[in-house]
Amino acid sequence: MESQVVKSEQAAGPTMVMLQMIVNFWVSRTIYVAAKLGLADLVKNEAKTADELAQLTNTHAPSLYRVLRALASVGVFVDDGRGRFAQTPLSETLRSDTPGSLRAMAMVELGQEHFPAWGNLMHSVKTGEIAFDNLFKQNVWEYYAQNPEDASNFNEAMKGLTEMVNVSVLWAYDFSGVNKLVDVAGGTGGLISAVLNAHPRMRGVLFDLPHVIAEAGPSLEAAGVRDRCETATGDFFESLPEGGDAYVMKWIIHDWNDERSTAILKNIRRVMNENGKLLLIETVVPEGNGPDLSKFLDLNMMVMTGGCERTEAEFSSLLAAAGFKLTRVIRTASPVCVIEAVRS
Ligand SMILES: C[S@@+](CC[C@H](N)C(=O)[O-])C[C@H]1O[C@@H](n2cnc3c(N)ncnc32)[C@H](O)[C@@H]1O
Repeated sequence: MESQVVKSEQAAGPTMVMLQMIVNFWVSRTIYVAAKLGLADLVKNEAKTADELAQLTNTHAPSLYRVLRALASVGVFVDDGRGRFAQTPLSETLRSDTPGSLRAMAMVELGQEHFPAWGNLMHSVKTGEIAFDNLFKQNVWEYYAQNPEDASNFNEAMKGLTEMVNVSVLWAYDFSGVNKLVDVAGGTGGLISAVLNAHPRMRGVLFDLPHVIAEAGPSLEAAGVRDRCETATGDFFESLPEGGDAYVMKWIIHDWNDERSTAILKNIRRVMNENGKLLLIETVVPEGNGPDLSKFLDLNMMVMTGGCERTEAEFSSLLAAAGFKLTRVIRTASPVCVIEAVRS
């Protein structure tokens, strides 16, 4: 009897941890509802009851109350004891007007594109194919080109994540020798704006697909860099802006397999200045079993784009195949590294 008690106590730890891991998606999907309804914006200035929030969001008050109670149990909003829900540091991150906002990210990851693709993870594991493409019968970039609302939300999510890592990148890497910086597939310009603002004499070129650049003007304007940052549109498998002395790509190479990545890198090599630098901003998968964002981000790439996160050795051989030599991998205070390369 005694030994059985000991065994069940031992089992309780891992069992509870596993149960929590299994049901983590309950939390994620509830966060999605809060993000989509904009609840964090609605309690920005004052706490509100579930009834008030239901009226403002056109939802069913008793159900919304249960959502808020569940979220408050994990620190997202807090019940003030008088039936009103107030902001917390965690719910604050879901406000749409906060720097580094995760609201759009919650909607992108947990809404109608990434979440169904993750539901189809088994397809990727069994076949090596892209789960998203298998479900949607097109790739994610084609999907965004045809679904402007989702594309805007994706761009907004990228902007929020970029704001989150910008300072760490600027601390870690010295851009001061660069006269003309080209941000290849730079989205709506969050990174290039931050670099240009830190370096008042630098000029920039922001390059991306046409529907993305169409949304970039207001961001560049708001950042005060519109006059120093040209925009250019195109497909990086075809052509790229010429003559930059540094080409930066953040979260681009991880979207593509080795063959497609090599094609992009070779195109950059062709257009960059003789002594130009290539800067990849990516997570780098560490050795060992320790937890690291890169290891699940890698699966996100598996289901969404067919790309992957890479180790330092994998980056080195990928770059070598495209005619580059990896010179440095600079860790930052955020999950991304700056991988610097020059022509070999
Ligand atoms: C993961 S997002 C990263 C955006 C930005 N660099 C950032 O970190 O916020 C990938 C970007 O690649 C762009 N993209 C995808 N295919 C492209 C292509 N063939 N040519 C140019 N840009 C492309 C997308 O429009 C998107 O902005």
